[in-house]
Amino acid sequence: MEKLRVAVIGCGSIAQYRHLPEYKGNQHVEIVAVCDINEARANETAEKYGAQAYTSYEELLTNVQVDIVSVCTPNYLHAPVSIAALNAGNHVLCEKPMATSNDEAKAMIEAAKNNEKKLMIAHNQRFVASHKKARQLIENGELGKIYSFRTAFGHGGPEGWSIDGKDSWFFEKEKAFVGAMGDLGVHKSDLLRYILGEEIVEVGAFVETNAKDFSNVDDNAVCVLKTETGIIGTLAASWGYSKEDNSTIIYGGKGVMRLEDNPTYSMVIQYANGEVAKYELGKIQSNDEGGQNTSFVIDHFVESVLQDQEPLVTGEEGMKSLQVILAALQSSETKQIVKISEL
Ligand SMILES: NC(=O)c1ccc[n+]([C@@H]2O[C@H](COP(=O)([O-])OP(=O)(O)OC[C@H]3O[C@@H](n4cnc5c(N)ncnc54)[C@H](O)[C@@H]3O)[C@@H](O)[C@H]2O)c1
Repeated sequence: MEKLRVAVIGCGSIAQYRHLPEYKGNQHVEIVAVCDINEARANETAEKYGAQAYTSYEELLTNVQVDIVSVCTPNYLHAPVSIAALNAGNHVLCEKPMATSNDEAKAMIEAAKNNEKKLMIAHNQRFVASHKKARQLIENGELGKIYSFRTAFGHGGPEGWSIDGKDSWFFEKEKAFVGAMGDLGVHKSDLLRYILGEEIVEVGAFVETNAKDFSNVDDNAVCVLKTETGIIGTLAASWGYSKEDNSTIIYGGKGVMRLEDNPTYSMVIQYANGEVAKYELGKIQSNDEGGQNTSFVIDHFVESVLQDQEPLVTGEEGMKSLQVILAALQSSETKQIVKISEL
């Protein structure tokens, strides 16, 4: 069988750590082109992967015929690059946060539909072993009725991650649009929707900039969320945590489930009857050492294209997870609780 042809647009950290090596490791695809506005970076990456180098994504999309495009650019380019790639007849795997507004997200979904191409948003938290098991157990009623949750994603900030360090676009509002809430918060809104199997309908939030004095985006947020059946809980996203926290706690009538809250046991369930179940399911990916060494996102998307199946995180899913973040930003600005249906 002929291999699917892949182009990766944006050759920064997420491309270097995940997309490029995971495409390379997938026997069904070949990387044929890469693009970065930083010419040296584009050339170096192209050489490493035996691909053609471009500094303009428009040129790449006009000049090379591919099947799959990964969009690994700063946030403000997700919608324009994805739409251009879909209109050029490619399937698109776009990084999170999907877009910078509801309208952009809708336009991406529309472009996928009009061109009959697949669009997936790279919400990798759904592919973490403990999170997958949590969804199953909750669905099976293992925790009884769910009343509340607490989820957090925080670390010291993207200056230790982005290929451009402290000079990164992550700290510029015009390019990032949203800070820790878009970097980390949206992972958790997506995760909550996934493991609870419910939509979030109302949001209240404090979204602050108080951790990085050189940046003009939010870097420390706490949100209160309510789901459609009335489950309430908190979501925190921060670049002000000196030690990474990527944990989620679900409180049910029959027990409390702790996810990624223990260095050895990625799931611990403390039952109301006193029993404790500990599961060693493999570690979550982390900026710290020792996380799982694949995101599963790339393989899943390739499989979706090959099998002509909808990917787990469609454009619609990405948009719903983004809406929670948009509602939080609005709530923090207006000091009001925001209904997602009224966004
Ligand atoms: N799924 C995850 O867990 C995860 C983790 C980190 C980052 N991300 C997302 O991935 C995206 C990229 O983040 P990153 O960490 O790789 O950032 P980065 O700063 O390391 O890299 C971004 C790259 O994009 C390039 N770029 C900028 N403008 C461009 C343009 N017009 N055309 C082509 N390339 C351009 C930059 O030169 C840079 O090389 C962001 O949206 C981020 O939110 C996702």
